[in-house]
Amino acid sequence: MRILFQSDIPTNTTQSIIIPLPQEEGGTVSAKHWEWLAKLSGLTSEDLQGCFRGNNSEVLPIVTAKARFILLGLGAEANFGKAIKAFIKLASKQQHLLSVNSCLLLDHYSEDPVMEATLSEAGVNGLWQGSYVLGAHKTANGEERVVFAPDFALTIVSKRKDTAALEQGAERGLIIAQAQTEIMGLVNAPANHKHPQHLAAWAKASADRYGYVATIWDKEQVTAAGMGGLLAVNQGSPEPPVFIVLEYKGEPDAKGHLPKIGLVGKGVTFDTGGLSLKPSTNMHYMKSDMGGAAAVLGTMEAAARLKLPVHLIAAVPSTDNAVDAEAVKPSDVIGSFSGKTIEIIDTDAEGRLILADGLSYIIREHEPQVVIDLATLTGSSVRTLGYQAAALFSNDDQLAHHLEQAGQGCGERVWRLPLWEEYGDDMKSDVADIKNFSGRPVAGAITAAKFLQFFTDEHPSWAHLDIAGTAFGDTPYGKGKAATGYGVRLLIHFLESVLPS
Ligand code: BES
Ligand code: ZN
Ligand code: ZN
Repeated sequence: MRILFQSDIPTNTTQSIIIPLPQEEGGTVSAKHWEWLAKLSGLTSEDLQGCFRGNNSEVLPIVTAKARFILLGLGAEANFGKAIKAFIKLASKQQHLLSVNSCLLLDHYSEDPVMEATLSEAGVNGLWQGSYVLGAHKTANGEERVVFAPDFALTIVSKRKDTAALEQGAERGLIIAQAQTEIMGLVNAPANHKHPQHLAAWAKASADRYGYVATIWDKEQVTAAGMGGLLAVNQGSPEPPVFIVLEYKGEPDAKGHLPKIGLVGKGVTFDTGGLSLKPSTNMHYMKSDMGGAAAVLGTMEAAARLKLPVHLIAAVPSTDNAVDAEAVKPSDVIGSFSGKTIEIIDTDAEGRLILADGLSYIIREHEPQVVIDLATLTGSSVRTLGYQAAALFSNDDQLAHHLEQAGQGCGERVWRLPLWEEYGDDMKSDVADIKNFSGRPVAGAITAAKFLQFFTDEHPSWAHLDIAGTAFGDTPYGKGKAATGYGVRLLIHFLESVLPS
């Protein structure tokens, strides 16, 4: 995508002109905007008013002799998250309205530079993300996406003299969108195309391309390091596990600050449940059980491309959770990287076993100031919050607040649940240091978080995001559930919010 900045609509090419419009009080577009649109289109403001109200994601194409105007509703109390949603919907459902020379008209935001820059980012991000195609394995690939055409150009039109903030917004929008569509590709990939080695190869290629470091531990190294959780989950699989370690070290800011942040992502490439086998309905969706890993991989790539002044260290333990005679069994007691022993009650509670190793490794070997793990960890979190928010757990109120703020600001929401000590009692084992399932059908997301907390060595600033409901769900890309790209935008916004300015 080529992105250009101009103070007027270019007149020499046929244009699709996208005009994002907020909804004002009274449930429609403001009188001022109607007049301006009338002048622009050559229609009367009365003509226009009956057909469009500015609801979120509402689209009204107006074809005139001059151009193709696309009114795009942002809804009431327009914000970044709502704007991205609207642009995604436009690109995914109505891409026929776009042309290789498209305009994003923002000059009606001349009095609101913050919203203007926000829309520059949301526009680029949403148009790219919304052009994602699901059918990677269809033999006839269907519709070409105009936004992905090599000669696609988006001209952002603004009267502002200094376009630095607009340019920065557009660049961020594109970099984040590209990381998002990359990880959507990973999460949507079928399980037989997505062994742990594939995730490792993706990480290596991204690190080499964007100047950060990926180290891949193979099964022998995982065994030598004593990663008992990862090995136990992998026991029933013909595919060896990998433990991916990623490091990106940005330049310190002007004051010499370079916060060190640890990330851990659950990389279960397919979760059958193991011997505690899942029911077959919807089991195919368990190809998405590496959504946490994908969010971490995408964040590393985006952070490196954005050259954020942070030091990121990430661990992605990856395996599938398969069934065969050698698979780990309920009642088995296993070891872990931390040295602690775990009684297996349910082999379907496998994510926490590999995360335990990832968390202990990151905390003990790299000592980050903050550590955040992301995982499609429990059905319980989906039953609690549905698809609207990830469940957030943290022992650090300030960290939780920053994540909540980032989520609110970017439309990838989180909702905090408690970590009260009493919940931990349910995880006590008679025969080992801890058990992997309480055995009770209550508070499943919380008891899973308590299990993870047991492996954080009382690190003072840890957060766990259970993204089972947000990583994979209904999308505009297809009929069934699909990847959403959740997590990259949240983490990038979070990282920026903790950087001292
Ligand atoms: N991968 C699943 C959680 C999941 C469920 C993700 C639905 C996405 C959608 C996880 O490994 C799992 O099976 N969790 C069990 C834990 C239970 C056995 C303690 C669950 O949530 O039922
Ligand atoms: Zn499971
Ligand atoms: Zn799982």
